Amino acid sequence: MDIKKTVDLSWDEFDELRDPRPDANGFDAVVERAISRRGFLGGALAFGSGAAVFGTGVLGSASSARAQASAFGFEPIGIATDYDIHVPAGYRWKPLVRWGDALFSEAEGAYSPETGVSVEMSDKVFGENTDGMETFTHDGHTLLAINSEYVNPKINLPAASEGVPQSADEVTLLKNMQGVTVLEIAEGDDGYAVVIDSPYNRRITHETQMTMDGPAAGADLVKTNADPEGMSPKGTMNNCGSGKTLWGTYLTCEENFNGYFGATGDYEETAGITRYGIGGEGRYAYEKFDSRYDLSAEPNEPNRHGWVTEIDPTDPQSTPVKHTALGRFKHENAEMVQAADGRIVVYMGDDERGEFMYKFVSNGTWAEGQPTDGLLSDGTLYVAKFNDDMSGEWLALTPETTGMPLEEILVFSRLAGSKVGATTMDRPEWIAANPLRAEAYCALTNNKNRGVKPNAGGDETPVGGPNPRETNNFGQIVRWRPEGEDHGAETFTWDLYVMAGNPAVYDNSYAGSENVTEGNMFNSPDGMAFSSDGMLWIQTDGDDSNEGEFAGQGNNQMLVGNPETGEIARFLTAPNGAEVTGLTWSPDGTVAFVGIQHPGGSWPDGAGKPRSSVIAVWREDGAIFG
Ligand code: FEO
Ligand code: CA
Ligand code: CA
Repeated sequence: MDIKKTVDLSWDEFDELRDPRPDANGFDAVVERAISRRGFLGGALAFGSGAAVFGTGVLGSASSARAQASAFGFEPIGIATDYDIHVPAGYRWKPLVRWGDALFSEAEGAYSPETGVSVEMSDKVFGENTDGMETFTHDGHTLLAINSEYVNPKINLPAASEGVPQSADEVTLLKNMQGVTVLEIAEGDDGYAVVIDSPYNRRITHETQMTMDGPAAGADLVKTNADPEGMSPKGTMNNCGSGKTLWGTYLTCEENFNGYFGATGDYEETAGITRYGIGGEGRYAYEKFDSRYDLSAEPNEPNRHGWVTEIDPTDPQSTPVKHTALGRFKHENAEMVQAADGRIVVYMGDDERGEFMYKFVSNGTWAEGQPTDGLLSDGTLYVAKFNDDMSGEWLALTPETTGMPLEEILVFSRLAGSKVGATTMDRPEWIAANPLRAEAYCALTNNKNRGVKPNAGGDETPVGGPNPRETNNFGQIVRWRPEGEDHGAETFTWDLYVMAGNPAVYDNSYAGSENVTEGNMFNSPDGMAFSSDGMLWIQTDGDDSNEGEFAGQGNNQMLVGNPETGEIARFLTAPNGAEVTGLTWSPDGTVAFVGIQHPGGSWPDGAGKPRSSVIAVWREDGAIFG
């Protein structure tokens, strides 16, 4: 341990260094088992703490990062701590669309650097806090569907309110900046730009009329005073990650919906309410101005959120559909693949400490050109159980396995997962499936409570399996291969593709896995997507203080990993304060669109409020990106 590096640590962190956690040996045992069975990297699954045992050492020099350059065709970049974007030599970037940019000509000039956007114009501009997004082509048009996850009220509301809505209008303003934007883009002399007034341009907000399908649609649990049939919910909220169906529609994933509900009076604290963190005061005070968000008036309204919602970006008149068959939890994204027999498989993570990973498998099968009816409304929801011996199984959530009626399994999927003994995970964020082989990856972003306290349902969070570190502030990426190379299989084998860490500060398991070096280190993997060449792009949403155990990691970033060799290289750094989230490509693959959420400073305008934006990144020579 380099003593000079410890002086910047807090006393808490210092204590950890001086008093190694009792899990160290337990972790080594897990690693040893992993290696004895050989990980998918062919035995290269050596981690910091195991490295000494196995004599492989931890790669730890900038030259090792440079050595990766040839593997990826670009020179990896260093960390940054400024309020700008950095990409490798030979690449360029520019903002494609910023929060407040007009989608329609009536809203041109609506954004003010001092005051933001008026309530009247708030649903005619690009929303705030960009997140998941997907590209679609339709009749020669290029469309993007983009989530706006949440809002920063202190940026959006008048200074006098200190970020707390003071009127129904201010609530409407915040609601309109969230949800989903569909917009058309076209390539001109200056690269891609938004097509203002495109007939495809559309905002979908907390007020947009939706419908529901699947076994919980129409159930008593989703009926409200405004919708006694329980079939017509309004709005989608906290749209985090995304997915794209094989038939060309958009999946938007409702994550931290609980924060939008509060109570002005009495309400019943059921297990379903407490497990999802609902109750008390809402994050945005909506309940004070709109009884829909008031638990004491509409106790079932929260049950109508937390779903995967399908939107047809090619039809601006289409009604979005909430698919109850895919379960209700804090959905991160929805990665759709196909089983060997043609059934539809959707992998999904539930992003909260100690929650679960799920997959849905349709009953029906599909092939190009066939009808899609029922594919996402009729099937089985499974939850993942990981074993320490690198095996795993998908446990079906059915009335027989859980003792719960089917509609309750779907509305309260977390409770159902607990009943069957699912593995409590370190915050499952995005799941990405390798297009070149039957294999999928999930970013387990971090979990300060691992091994410290149970999840919100009281399930223990033991150290082990794919969650091998107590008080895990760095995160890891787990991957699994389904038995028989069939995503429809109920069993799989797994390994850890990478364990993030800091080899400059730690020489134990918190240094990270062997493919983490001082040249490429990062914390809190979150967004992930594969490019068509089978490379895994990793976006981070972590601690960008560049201090303490995060010293040397700089701002949040986007890296690329080679699934075969384990090599990882840093490609992009974000402005300080921002997370990088959301990644999609132009139809020809030469331009990447990357989401920059909640930037600090005055990025990207250089003055005024910071503006969450989607940026375009391309190679100067116009070659395929990456
Ligand atoms: Fe919205 Fe879990 O990230
Ligand atoms: Ca995320
Ligand atoms: Ca995150």
